[in-house]
Amino acid sequence: MPRVSDDRQAPEARAAELRRRIEYHNQRYYLDDDPEISDAEYDRLFRQLQQLEAEHPELASPDSPTRRIGVEPAEKFAKVRHHAPMLSLANAFDEDELRAFEKRIRNLLDDPGPIGYVTELKIDGTAVALTYQRGELRRGATRGNGQVGEDVTENLRTIRSIPERLDSGSAPRLVEVRGEAFLPLSAFERLNEERMQQGESPFANPRNAAAGALRQLDAAVTASRPLDFRAYSIGYLEGGEEPETQYGALEALAGWGLPVDSAYRRHDDLEGVIEYCRAWEQRRNTLDYEIDGVVVKVDRLELQRRLGTVSRDPRWAVAYKFPGQTATTRLVEIRINVGRTGTLNPYAVLEPVQVGGVTIRQATLHNQDDIRRKDIRAGDWVIVKRAGDVIPQVVGPVLEKRSGEEAEFSYPDRCPSCGAEVIREEGDAMAYCSNSACPARRMESLKHFVSRGAMDIRGLGPSTLDKLVELGLVRDPADLYRLDAEQISQLEGFKEKSTQNLLDSLERSRRQPFSRVLFALGLRHVGETVAELLAAGLGDLESLEAASLEEIAAIEGIGPEIAASVHGYFRQPENRELLQRLREAGLQFEHRGVRRTGRLEGKTFVVTGTLPGMSRVEAKQFIESRGGKVTSSVSSRTDFLLAGDGPGSKLEKARELGVAVIALDDLRQLAGQTGGAT
Ligand code: IVH
Repeated sequence: MPRVSDDRQAPEARAAELRRRIEYHNQRYYLDDDPEISDAEYDRLFRQLQQLEAEHPELASPDSPTRRIGVEPAEKFAKVRHHAPMLSLANAFDEDELRAFEKRIRNLLDDPGPIGYVTELKIDGTAVALTYQRGELRRGATRGNGQVGEDVTENLRTIRSIPERLDSGSAPRLVEVRGEAFLPLSAFERLNEERMQQGESPFANPRNAAAGALRQLDAAVTASRPLDFRAYSIGYLEGGEEPETQYGALEALAGWGLPVDSAYRRHDDLEGVIEYCRAWEQRRNTLDYEIDGVVVKVDRLELQRRLGTVSRDPRWAVAYKFPGQTATTRLVEIRINVGRTGTLNPYAVLEPVQVGGVTIRQATLHNQDDIRRKDIRAGDWVIVKRAGDVIPQVVGPVLEKRSGEEAEFSYPDRCPSCGAEVIREEGDAMAYCSNSACPARRMESLKHFVSRGAMDIRGLGPSTLDKLVELGLVRDPADLYRLDAEQISQLEGFKEKSTQNLLDSLERSRRQPFSRVLFALGLRHVGETVAELLAAGLGDLESLEAASLEEIAAIEGIGPEIAASVHGYFRQPENRELLQRLREAGLQFEHRGVRRTGRLEGKTFVVTGTLPGMSRVEAKQFIESRGGKVTSSVSSRTDFLLAGDGPGSKLEKARELGVAVIALDDLRQLAGQTGGAT
């Protein structure tokens, strides 16, 4: 792969080289679902080529990547011809470019009067086309090269928000719906965590995870990744009323029962559009999915038709791209942090750099294979990326900037914390410290034990834990429950009030349910969901300790690998001893089941959006522990929709059905509880 594009080269040679590079990156992005460079970097290359072709019209050629969309569909799928081409979008990177977009429209239309626009969020997933015939889902396809895509119908059927059937009555005889399939950020993080635990390498971003999931031959694999979908346009329609505006199209889609992202707005002029773009640039991180910009569309479809399309881009729409969440900086050093299960997690120490308004000093490097595959070296200039609340990551090195002085990374064969031997099992991407008493592991286990999703012991930050360990007061979680006021008040910054607060939170944590305790213990492969399954499946600690490997594996949702880890844990005498001491400390070791009494008894809830200070799992537990029921989709049987930020289509559905929409505070009131703690 040639890498240097030199301004001194002849234009033909530069164009040829840019095309080669873009083709190569297209291949990595669309076919392999594994890009090597950031989107901003790709956009830069693309613009260079566009500019070169504009300056030298003789270089333009119909097969240039600037004229084509995506890449040819892969051989492994049946091909599907779209009813109308699936176009792509030109980009605008700032307000001036948005104004230039409008100016061109005005020139082309010659005195069109006011131009109304619709803005929509540009969700960073993968484009799909759904064909509904007489209201039934018949076919689903990827974009492919814009004319012909890949048939991924069965995979799309696994997405719960895609209806099998449109609301009868209003739906047209034949309609091709266009939209974005994507992986919510929370699911993306969970998926990557699971992959790392299972020794697979993580996905670079939710887009690749989503595209990869859709382009599976086995629909069961797609189903294991909780994809979501939002419809954004009508590609083709027969036997029904054609809307006159994009706004009307979105309303029609929602009316047929398709999920439409609720953030869309209509604007009378471009100033409103610019305001909307600015506002979402600030708010992008509040959503549970990644957006990389705003799509701006001329509202009236008649104007759209008059404006038409040049090569691959419509002239009536543009993507306003947010400034990249990526930046380039120098990687100073590669270090290793030992995780609670003993994994050796490499991370990069960076020269501090601003990414999307936040200073980044460290970024994750995932694992040994990832470092080798991307060929990341100490001293390299690297691209770093930040997305939503995901930990910043190193996308890869900027090879052009290499001086030759960079040092290749060699993985240690001794644990950097305790010096014990490092083991790496065949087929496992992660390496582990072999010493279960490794101090770094102990520290990470303690941090996990007290964390919010686990025992939720407020007032015990990492530095306080460090101090407690250093003073010899705490070695394992059970020691926390033996701390007294005198010991705590020895710690720096602990006065009478904060000491009492910590004792109170320890006391409160004793009442955390059994499943939380199991999760807090930090067994390998046991996340929140698995912990709940184990607690509900076996009921109490005695049964868990006594359970055979087969009995554990027989619980629905527990695979052989998890079962082996759990079974192994309870065979270790030191673990049993710890559990005994935790029991003496008064923790819950019995599953209470869903209490069918409580203030929320008989009420059915649906939860959507990001709630302030409470995860969805926590909200579900909160409701269920008070007798309520939580289901996944809004129907006439739903009593309340608990909505946070970025609620999406469930909110519309609820409004349509007249279901009460409540916020977290309302829920607390309903439950007869005011104030913070659950
Ligand atoms: S409209 C001609 N609307 O962005 C219109 N696209 O290159 C073409 N995308 O991968 C698409 N959200 O899947 C449109 N609200 C939205 C969108 C959207 C995301 C994606 C689309 C495609 C890319 C456009």
